[in-house]
Amino acid sequence: MLIFEIVLIACILVAGMLIVLTSMKTGISPSPSSSKTVRAMMATMEDSGAGPIVDLGSGWGTLVIAFAGKYPQRQVIGYELSLVPWLFSSIRKSVSRLNNLTLYRKDFRNADLSHASVLTCYLFPGGMVSLKEKLERDKITEVLIVSSTFALPSSEPTRVIRVKDMYRTPIYLYHQSRRAVCGQSL
Ligand SMILES: C[S@@+](CC[C@H](N)C(=O)[O-])C[C@H]1O[C@@H](n2cnc3c(N)ncnc32)[C@H](O)[C@@H]1O
Repeated sequence: MLIFEIVLIACILVAGMLIVLTSMKTGISPSPSSSKTVRAMMATMEDSGAGPIVDLGSGWGTLVIAFAGKYPQRQVIGYELSLVPWLFSSIRKSVSRLNNLTLYRKDFRNADLSHASVLTCYLFPGGMVSLKEKLERDKITEVLIVSSTFALPSSEPTRVIRVKDMYRTPIYLYHQSRRAVCGQSL
């Protein structure tokens, strides 16, 4: 029993250290969205068609698992750099048998996002700069961006929703269109 406890504590310590080290590298910890925020984000994509939904930094899988369950006919993809949350979300995916969900352990900045209908994120100011640069570099068009808490720099949101929580968490919506990208006015 003592050996089991020692191994368990060692695993928890290693997992904790990995999370802290990766959070220092990415610039954000894998804090999950609240259930109210998840519901509010899902409500914004009711009319977003049938194309893929991609979460940029999928963490423990909170958003992607909710999306994949709500839209079984749609492809849902998550990109996550942090090993422990990615492993955890992969186990959740297997247990939930969500065949429409794919989870990549990959930097979203190096991913092909051109096929996405909806891009969701809960990042941080530096991550939003990276996203803006990626959208411009890859000329990503015809996509709905749903960003929790942080806005895209130098971009006018189409709409801002406030979650009914104690922080009044903002959710920024951007309807990226072909014309907007040409004029760099996302
Ligand atoms: C605040 S958490 C949000 C998790 C999830 N989207 C949610 O709302 O519950 C942000 C996640 O983004 C990940 N992340 C940050 N930059 C990333 C990048 N360039 N590529 C992939 N994941 C990234 C972090 O590791 C972290 O787990």
